Amino acid sequence: MQPHVLIIDDQEAIRLFLAATLEARGYRVSTAGTGAAGLDQAAREAPDLVLLDLRLPDLSGLQVLARLKEAAPQTCVVILTSYGRTDAAVEAMKLQAFDFVTKPVNLDHLLAVIHRGLEAGESSRRRAQARTADDLFASLPGVVPGRSAVMQPVYETVRRVAAGGRSTVLILGESGVGKDILAQVIHRNSPRRDYPFLEVNCASLPEQLLESELFGHERGAFTDAAQQKLGLLELAHSGTLFLDEIGEMSLPIQVKLLRVLEKMAFRRVGGLEDIQVDVRLIAATNRDLAGLVAQGVFRSDLYYRLKVVELTVPPLRQRPEDLPDLARYFLRVYNEEFGKQFRDISPAALEVLAAQPWPGNVRELRNTIERAVLLGDGTELGVGELQIDAPPGDAGGDAELVRVLETALTSPLPAGGIVLDDLVERFEIAMIRKAMAAAADNQSLASRLLHLGRDRLRYRLKNYEL
Ligand SMILES: Nc1ncnc2c1ncn2[C@@H]1O[C@H](COP(=O)(O)OP(=O)(O)OP(=O)(O)O)[C@@H](O)[C@H]1O
Ligand SMILES: [Mg+2]
Repeated sequence: MQPHVLIIDDQEAIRLFLAATLEARGYRVSTAGTGAAGLDQAAREAPDLVLLDLRLPDLSGLQVLARLKEAAPQTCVVILTSYGRTDAAVEAMKLQAFDFVTKPVNLDHLLAVIHRGLEAGESSRRRAQARTADDLFASLPGVVPGRSAVMQPVYETVRRVAAGGRSTVLILGESGVGKDILAQVIHRNSPRRDYPFLEVNCASLPEQLLESELFGHERGAFTDAAQQKLGLLELAHSGTLFLDEIGEMSLPIQVKLLRVLEKMAFRRVGGLEDIQVDVRLIAATNRDLAGLVAQGVFRSDLYYRLKVVELTVPPLRQRPEDLPDLARYFLRVYNEEFGKQFRDISPAALEVLAAQPWPGNVRELRNTIERAVLLGDGTELGVGELQIDAPPGDAGGDAELVRVLETALTSPLPAGGIVLDDLVERFEIAMIRKAMAAAADNQSLASRLLHLGRDRLRYRLKNYEL
């Protein structure tokens, strides 16, 4: 991916001139005319390098520089300053600016400075990343560390909570972004690493089963309770319990869980004595928990108790820098599994991958690579193998389906007949995609939109690899 340069300068002529010059040399460029807009853009775009004019209408350039460095110390900032204002430039250097260039700009000089700045940034990023990879992911060989700027604060928080004793962690993020994986990273890096990491999916069990799964039960507590059973809370003692899809937990169990969080004590179902445990809870959901609280289906006291530490994992489309490493990792895994000869992914294929919206995030990327490796042959995985049909946001796939269905419905049956299953399947996939998009990937909501039971929807999602 080309380096991204953000230009913050109040003079439009200079912005346009520099942007055109840099774009012509293959850089990605964005511009801002005020300090506030520049800071806002820098936070969103995480540019590799910022060209910063010291004289701005709203904030002083030095203030902007200080804030840029505070938010992202790795950012390389090159100062543009008027001739004769070297005092300010010196101040800027103290604030860790990379270098300064005086106006009127000597283009060759500016380009050389930008080039050096990007190289320096790249190597310091690599060092920082090596450090991250070494410590956080050392014990988890199947996890690919993200190199994107947006993931670094997430890892920083992971590092801090892992070290800190028992505080509860709430992991938020769309389906397939890697919430499970982060929960394991936390456990493996915590002092609890030699004790159990257990997990339960709150959506997969009916209320009563979930209750006895979590808290255990005494013999005779209910009809089927022939034996005493220890719950996950007891079994995870000294370790970590991961509660996946916490948003689906019923209100009565939420009450019991709240008590566990407050007292670290609970009773088995049908039991009379309090059992004390030492367990770190990590909860995850792809639903909007705050919204569920507002609707009254999730208890606000539990919500606040859970989100002592909140981690939001950004969707894959917001961190395209992470994609090549992930794709290459999955390529290696499936290459091995299917005994293929692929050595790398073509640059064009990587570009196509980077342009996808990935509603199913890393899981969907993994499935895409798996299918491509399974069906393809050769040493380089190209665009052809990817079988990515509709470009992002394009209704092309649907338009084709409309033609197919129209022909099927309005023409007489062809002599060779039709493959009914194929037609039905394509229609189903299109409708399910629509419903999932309308429901922002919330399966319960999508299943209601389709008037299809959740289990049946799930089965189809899995079956069609959606
Ligand atoms: N950093 C990563 N390195 C390697 N594989 C990853 C990474 N992140 C995610 N994956 C893979 O993507 C898939 C989905 O990850 P995971 O189950 O952690 O997501 P999730 O956010 O818990 O999804 P859901 O909301 O559906 O529970 C898994 O197969 C996982 O191995
Ligand atoms: Mg999960």
